[in-house]
Amino acid sequence: MSIRFEEKTSTFTLHTQNSTYQMQLDPMGHLLHLYYGRRIGDGNNFHLYPTADHGFSPDFYAAQAVRGSYSPDVLPQEYPAANRGDFRVPAADVVNAGGARGAEFVYAGHSVQAGAYALEGLPASFGEDCETLTIELRDTVLGLRVQLFYGVYEAQDIITRAAVLTNESGEPLTLEKAASACLDLPFGKWDLIQFHGRHAMERQPERTHLGRDIRRVGSVRGASSHHHNPFVILCEPAATEDWGSCYGVMPVYSGNHCTDIEVDYNGSTRLVTGIHPDGFRWHLAPGETFTTPQVLLCYTHEGLGELSRHYHRFIRQSLCRSTGTQMSEVLINNWEATYFNFDQDKIYAIAQKAASLGVGLMVLDDGWFGKRDSDTSGLGDWFVNTEKLKGGLSPLIEKINALGMKFGIWIEPEMVSEDSDLYRAHPDWALTLPGRQPILGRGQLVLDMSRPEVVDYLTDCFTKLLSENHIEYIKWDMNRNMADVYSHALPPERQGEVFHRYILGVYALMDRLTSRFPHVLFEGCAGGGGRFDAGMLAYVPQFWCSDNTDAIERLTIQYGTSFGYPVSSMGAHVSACPNHQTGRTVPLGTRGVVAMSGTFGYELDLNKLSRKEMSLVKKQIARYQSYAELIRTGDYYRLTSPLEADFWHGWQFAAPDASEALMNLVVVHPQGNPLPLHIQWKGLDPDGVYKIVRCEFPGVPEKLPAHTWAKEITGQKFTGAQLMYAGQTLPQLYGDYPSAQILIKKTR
Ligand code: GLA
Repeated sequence: MSIRFEEKTSTFTLHTQNSTYQMQLDPMGHLLHLYYGRRIGDGNNFHLYPTADHGFSPDFYAAQAVRGSYSPDVLPQEYPAANRGDFRVPAADVVNAGGARGAEFVYAGHSVQAGAYALEGLPASFGEDCETLTIELRDTVLGLRVQLFYGVYEAQDIITRAAVLTNESGEPLTLEKAASACLDLPFGKWDLIQFHGRHAMERQPERTHLGRDIRRVGSVRGASSHHHNPFVILCEPAATEDWGSCYGVMPVYSGNHCTDIEVDYNGSTRLVTGIHPDGFRWHLAPGETFTTPQVLLCYTHEGLGELSRHYHRFIRQSLCRSTGTQMSEVLINNWEATYFNFDQDKIYAIAQKAASLGVGLMVLDDGWFGKRDSDTSGLGDWFVNTEKLKGGLSPLIEKINALGMKFGIWIEPEMVSEDSDLYRAHPDWALTLPGRQPILGRGQLVLDMSRPEVVDYLTDCFTKLLSENHIEYIKWDMNRNMADVYSHALPPERQGEVFHRYILGVYALMDRLTSRFPHVLFEGCAGGGGRFDAGMLAYVPQFWCSDNTDAIERLTIQYGTSFGYPVSSMGAHVSACPNHQTGRTVPLGTRGVVAMSGTFGYELDLNKLSRKEMSLVKKQIARYQSYAELIRTGDYYRLTSPLEADFWHGWQFAAPDASEALMNLVVVHPQGNPLPLHIQWKGLDPDGVYKIVRCEFPGVPEKLPAHTWAKEITGQKFTGAQLMYAGQTLPQLYGDYPSAQILIKKTR
């Protein structure tokens, strides 16, 4: 039993293998948060909170006899509401039909069930290895019920939270804010790690110390965004990859999200996470229910690396519903090879060459449908452009299948071009403000996914596409952020619901298509990684990491992404050089090493490579296939940070049973008289004996001594302790961005 309720003190204690989460009901029935951190016993932890007089922090009415000693402002609360004496960031902000703002929730019951809970219309983790605690709270004045869900995954060290609010009164209520969770940390000084970025430079980690203010990580763009990923870490200032207290907070949500972290005047830290309150106003009619997104909490005292590995396993095992045929084939995508300029012969020529080198999946990107010769037209018209693809899709797919390859295709369901049959037929299906010219992004408009008929229409389009053609992979793109957020179908009092209803529509469409076509591998995309979040990963096992395919820039992007998300979810391709985004040239071998830390593929015209390069591609594919399982399911270790000025960047995979491991590194600052490069392995069995099975230095020019060193070390044996604690010193790695890949296997 991971959930315990001690009746005498009204204390709930939730245990995972390495963490404890504790709450208590106070005598008035408020649900207080007592502790979340390293595993301790069941003993009550109320003593952690200050109860002395704190001037100007008002008291509960019932506590007036002991004035100054019992204020909501210093109480840790599981679901605090605004305007009732707690001046910190609230979880809920509720207004009644008469305009009175304020809510106060008190205990009304609880229950414990085996298994995970589901959330109506929203993605959520699943599994039998979970126990769910539901605590019911009520505000009897408003007639508002709140159910707080706690999913305890004991073995995985993850606790999930969500809230469901139901209007039990006879009058409408307005939710100005309804967060998923509040977390009060009464003691400790914390660093915040967040993942900011921009198009083509997503998820750049930034670590700052929290002071006495409110820090906000969020998006109001209608998508989780390139700019602020919905994942934050709080860690103790001394925490490293291998040591220290760390909390992870990951909303399972793809729309406007917001995580506020406040350090109050007492020095306690409060974190509130959920849907962004800006642009949100939910009209909760009598009898209606509002469900917040889920949030995945993780605590470890073993550092940032362990925190990441917990999330990686959890997302793979307990969040991602459809893994399809993930990573069984290496793919080739024609985008950077042709952009919009292709016909069936060009695509077939790319496929033919790719098949001969071992590629198993041909993906046809943007431009195959409607009148789509550039990004100014055609979105919404999901029928094949027979001027480009004579005879339609099926003859091309048949020819590609005959090469022994699968076929995949790009779609962007949520968008519409002004110049499209769909927009001409249904202008009111786009988000536009009455009486104003629309704001365009990439020349396109956003469909109103809050309208059920739009979702039904798209369901029919893509059901037809997938039923009539032998398509085994879909790249689901979304290429602009939202403005003019107004639905022509909703009444005035519901316009504040459009952002969230949009995402519910997207999830409904994803749910229908992924469950109707379980054999199809879906990959998410949003101008690269603009919606790379746990909400999407519930439906698609992988997401195009970034439109930036430069191998050196990808080191930072993939490094940042790895803090929360598994390598198996990162779309990564080898592209042409000079790179189309940066103009940089990196050796093909090194481009391969970097793309192998993801769902390895190619995005260039292989026909344009030299014979030598083609044979290298063939070898790369064979290598990747032999490493794929270790990369997909192995434990991931960050060895260096590309943000710190070092001349190399390294990362490593180790099989969960420590039977094998793969070391990867790239020299990012080639030097004269290069310094020796010393590596220390991680995640091995110290007493095991490991053999160097393969040692390669891609990108180091042939005939240099490093290759002789590699030959000599291959076959040699070392103990796990030697490799981890003494490590290895590599030879000088000359060249333009050379790299290393070393595979070891346990022999006994
Ligand atoms: C986005 C994607 C690219 C490509 C283009 C097509 O930018 O991230 O990979 O699919 O759209 O228009």
